[in-house]
Amino acid sequence: MKVTIFGSGYVGLVTGACFADAGNDVVCVDINAERVEQLQRGEVPIYEPGLDDMVSFNHDEGRLRFTTDPAEGVRHGLFQFIAVGTPADEDGSADLQHVLSVARTIGDHMDDYRVVVGKSTVPVGTADRVRAAVAEQLAARGERIEFDVVSNPEFLKEGAAIEDFVKPERIIVGTDNPRTGELMKALYAPFNRSHDRLITMDIRSAELTKYASNAMLATKISFMNELSNMAERLGADVEQIRLGMGSDPRIGYHFIYPGCGYGGSCFPKDVQALTRTGHDYGYRPELLEAVESVNRRQKQVLAERIREHFGGDLGGRTFALWGLAFKPNTDDMREAPSRVIMEALWEAGAAVQAYDPEAMDEAERIYGRRDDLQLCDNLYDAVEDADALVVCTEWQVFRSPDFERIRDALRYPVVFDGRNVYPPAMMEALGFTYYGMGRGESIRR
Ligand code: UDX
Repeated sequence: MKVTIFGSGYVGLVTGACFADAGNDVVCVDINAERVEQLQRGEVPIYEPGLDDMVSFNHDEGRLRFTTDPAEGVRHGLFQFIAVGTPADEDGSADLQHVLSVARTIGDHMDDYRVVVGKSTVPVGTADRVRAAVAEQLAARGERIEFDVVSNPEFLKEGAAIEDFVKPERIIVGTDNPRTGELMKALYAPFNRSHDRLITMDIRSAELTKYASNAMLATKISFMNELSNMAERLGADVEQIRLGMGSDPRIGYHFIYPGCGYGGSCFPKDVQALTRTGHDYGYRPELLEAVESVNRRQKQVLAERIREHFGGDLGGRTFALWGLAFKPNTDDMREAPSRVIMEALWEAGAAVQAYDPEAMDEAERIYGRRDDLQLCDNLYDAVEDADALVVCTEWQVFRSPDFERIRDALRYPVVFDGRNVYPPAMMEALGFTYYGMGRGESIRR
């Protein structure tokens, strides 16, 4: 089948590569000429396990092409996927200018029936606006060509996006007619083999399903973080509580890990956007507001603890910081707790020696070169002569390091563990002063 994907960012590239890999003929359109040239050379500008190989293989086979020419893209695909960015406006609502501009482009150039598929996470009602934008351009051209609009939200986790795409837990198709439902079913057939995971529903419900899923997951995390702060004060251990709660299948073990807050390109933005949508429709979503504010506060907890430990004055101190990415297996630092912690340390006059297995270039891109940030080559360089170690992301390589080497390299053997990576008793036996999240037991000791 012929597929066009507008937007060669994270979602667009994964979608394009996976459809091409299933044998479809895919054209990816992006307005960023530099990015398109890079992709044409077979270079993938984002870090995602397996994506490089998939892109270059399918590009070499001629099934995956990249262009800056939107007209070519519109002429090519029966399916026109819109996978461009929807950054948050200042008030938290999603900025739809890129989505609507693609819709107008489709209306400008289409010469035959098209299925316009919304992949970007967009507020409820966006599909109607996309439909209107396409129709308006067609009317301006005096053309009466049929098209349909579908909402097909993505559920890709960074670091596992290919796996999520080719073995989806669900494929949501929001449509208002059976014809497009069948076309989407055929397109997704290669990824929908073992049993039918494609759920068809009305367009608005599909749009809302995406927000609802992310908001639910963010709620689980903020709930656990709230509990973790209480456990700490009550002398209880949230890690024990987590295991006790998770064993109830109605609660489950997933996504109940307390920590220094959730980050990434989805949860913070989507919770804010859904909150905003509630307000726009005359409803105040109090739970969602709390999810967001608990998370904001949680990102401050580690920095406050560090300040308390050092008697309120961090001026002139240096901290080792492990983990800059918002989670392991990505180089993405959007909304990462590490940033809030690092910026609070700088604000208090301290310097940071940071290490992350993937996000070093990203850190340099964001912060440039500055005296109070040293980007280190490995985890041990980061702890050298630092006043304490702060762990912000639970990368696998941080789990079993040479603790004695770390203890000897640090000026004080203090560890602030924002992800509860280490058992408190073990750390104490190794001679560290250890602070986890919500681990009242260790504080009491
Ligand atoms: C998320 C959704 O999982 C995905 O379905 C959606 O399409 C996009 O948003 P992603 O942003 O890649 O994916 O990251 P995810 O693995 O969900 O983690 C989000 C954040 O929550 C991370 O900062 C992570 O550290 C944090 N988290 C996750 C917790 O603090 N505790 C948990 O138990 C789980």
